[in-house]
Amino acid sequence: MKFHITTFGCQMNVHDSQWLTAALESRGWEESGEDDAQVYILNTCSVREKPEQKVYSELGRVAAHLKRDENVFAAVGGCVAQQVGEGFFDRFPFVRLVFGSDGIAGAPNALERIARGTDDRVALLDFTAGFAEREQPEKLSALVPDTRQAFVNIMQGCDNFCAYCIVPYTRGRQKSRHPDVILDECRRLAENGVREITLLGQNVNSFGLDKGGAGVTFAGLLRSVAAIDGVDRLRFTTSHPKDIAPEVIAAFGELPNLCPSLHLPMQAGSDRVLKAMRRRYDTTRYLSIVDGLRAARPDISLTTDLIVGFPGETEEDFRQTLAMVERVGFESSFSFKYSDRPGVAAVNMEPKVDPLEASDRLLRLQALQNNITRKCLKELMGVNTDALIEGLSRKQDGPASSWKGRDPAGRIVNVPMEQDAGLEGMIVPVTIVEAKKHSLNGERTGEPW
Ligand code: SAH
Ligand code: SF4
Ligand code: F3S
Repeated sequence: MKFHITTFGCQMNVHDSQWLTAALESRGWEESGEDDAQVYILNTCSVREKPEQKVYSELGRVAAHLKRDENVFAAVGGCVAQQVGEGFFDRFPFVRLVFGSDGIAGAPNALERIARGTDDRVALLDFTAGFAEREQPEKLSALVPDTRQAFVNIMQGCDNFCAYCIVPYTRGRQKSRHPDVILDECRRLAENGVREITLLGQNVNSFGLDKGGAGVTFAGLLRSVAAIDGVDRLRFTTSHPKDIAPEVIAAFGELPNLCPSLHLPMQAGSDRVLKAMRRRYDTTRYLSIVDGLRAARPDISLTTDLIVGFPGETEEDFRQTLAMVERVGFESSFSFKYSDRPGVAAVNMEPKVDPLEASDRLLRLQALQNNITRKCLKELMGVNTDALIEGLSRKQDGPASSWKGRDPAGRIVNVPMEQDAGLEGMIVPVTIVEAKKHSLNGERTGEPW
């Protein structure tokens, strides 16, 4: 069987798609281009209205492919599948499997049954009580790319119910994975060549604090993963500011392979708005975390998520967000216009911000961010660092091939090197020689290893 997966959304979805690919490849299935696929899988995101709309337009678009052969079918997974469920069967008759966040564990077998003709339609939408462990695929290539970077889930779901957010409804309650299983998976990946691990969860700082907890905190887990042989780089996402422990902050100064970067979603810089968002921290607390992180690791690169136009946000509130962005000096940020999601608390909050006003705020915020990003990157001129090579750069200029890598903080570094193949997954010592708008140029200063 040939299958094609399209993925929207966060890194958890990217990783879920990798796992599904690996599980299907272990059954002898083959990943293919869209035109050849016999099964078309869509892994969806529901966090704002736009990505949700994309799912319907994408299904409309592929309907043409699917109609050419009645044996060709589609499966919809991820957060929109969890939200809409069997509604997909009515709207799109060629969809024969829907699977949610926990249901994905059963998706490979369900796909096999449908392909064999044993089952016609399957819905895997139930939430499980604990973390739904998935089979460990025999064929690892989809989980261990040439870049030697891998994701590892440490938990599922979220208990925070921020007023704007649909994730607790689509991913269910927080469920930590057992630390032993996480460590086994990390070791297996490292033994198979992985050198960079990113631990994933919607709220990693509260790892172990739910019923699935086994007495190991997130700081404890970080230490154990960092100690695994072969893990040269360790990252994690996402971190909620309210739950970050002093031990996690300290770890940035103590664990040499813990990368000097942290994505710490701030959402807003007005205490009034943060309260309405139910974030349960204020700007004073946020700034004290930032100070702590910089004391532990002065070169740490901080990035964030921001929402503009949350119901009730005034011009003054928005200016406080601008002021905080400037004060913290985020190296980059993802910023979004508030988008109403079904069932979340903010749907009923008033007054809604005029969409044109929200668009204007977004532009102003992004202009400020671009200036700060440029300044941060300029300060790196002349710095000696290293880059983990991910592939050839998009732009090739000059006689040598240009390779794209990432420094320990995750910044893109383009490096010219003679060799035109086989450098993916190598770490190259570099000096930063040029700062571009969103990336750096480096010069090789030593042998790749
Ligand atoms: N677990 C992560 C967030 C995951 S959602 C955390 O707590 O930080 C990713 C980002 O999408 C959020 O940080 C937020 O900035 C944005 N977001 C979530 N719901 C949104 C909504 N309804 N409208 C606009 N942006 C939203
Ligand atoms: Fe959504 Fe808040 Fe949970 Fe993040 S912490 S996933 S923003 S509810
Ligand atoms: Fe989107 Fe679900 Fe991730 S809503 S951001 S795919 S948790």
